[in-house]
Amino acid sequence: MNVSEAVARRISVRAFLPDPVPRALIAEVLEKAARAPSGGNLQPWLVTVLEGQSMARFRETMRARLAQGGPDPLEYPIYPEKLHEPYRTRRHRVGEQMYSLLGIPREDRAARLRRLEANYDFFGAPAGLFVHVDRRMGAAQWADLGMFLQTVMLLFVEAGYDTCAQEAWAWHHRTVDAFVGADPATMLFCGMAIGKRDPDAPVNRLRAERAPLEEFARFL
Ligand SMILES: Cc1cc2nc3c(=O)[nH]c(=O)nc-3n(C[C@H](O)[C@H](O)[C@H](O)COP(=O)(O)O)c2cc1C
Repeated sequence: MNVSEAVARRISVRAFLPDPVPRALIAEVLEKAARAPSGGNLQPWLVTVLEGQSMARFRETMRARLAQGGPDPLEYPIYPEKLHEPYRTRRHRVGEQMYSLLGIPREDRAARLRRLEANYDFFGAPAGLFVHVDRRMGAAQWADLGMFLQTVMLLFVEAGYDTCAQEAWAWHHRTVDAFVGADPATMLFCGMAIGKRDPDAPVNRLRAERAPLEEFARFL
């Protein structure tokens, strides 16, 4: 597989088969992904992996937490307040396309909420990870996290696995932080579900659109 193929094959998978992801493979992918570039070579990514027993325990913890009520206050804004164009429409479209594949109508808020909560089961994935960053780091280092995460996702594709990056965990950072024993000097950025895609799940047929080249690039 070449890089273009891996980039094209990577999608956000939101329904997984239960087949486990070998711990050694996860370690290998993370080690390789650490070749991702970062400004000043700070390598600001801090990763916690859940699989096997730890994932089973975490699932229990999360189930209990969800039964107790609403989310935690966010520690960082996932989107700008009052998302403006063209971003608002892009976000809206991908959401509508996903709910349409799932057969969930706009009015069915309960079904949409249940779907959102699938995030907190890692969409059924057998493995997952969390990425934290030192609170003193700024926008530039958060961008470095993105480079690392995409490298991780492409390497999983190369190894025959799928992923979904999940900012949704920011709404439950207290539970995550307590469970993983996060250093209070660090902040949770996101999680990532890891496993094999369920080929029969309609939600995995989603191919999120992209803006055409002219909309985001200029050649001078
Ligand atoms: C940092 C990051 C966080 C994300 N968080 C979530 C999430 O919490 N839940 C979810 O279903 N998708 C999440 N996504 C997936 C995006 O919705 C997805 O990347 C986008 O719609 C493009 O689709 P694609 O990844 O299939 O190409 C996240 C993606 C990124 C990069």
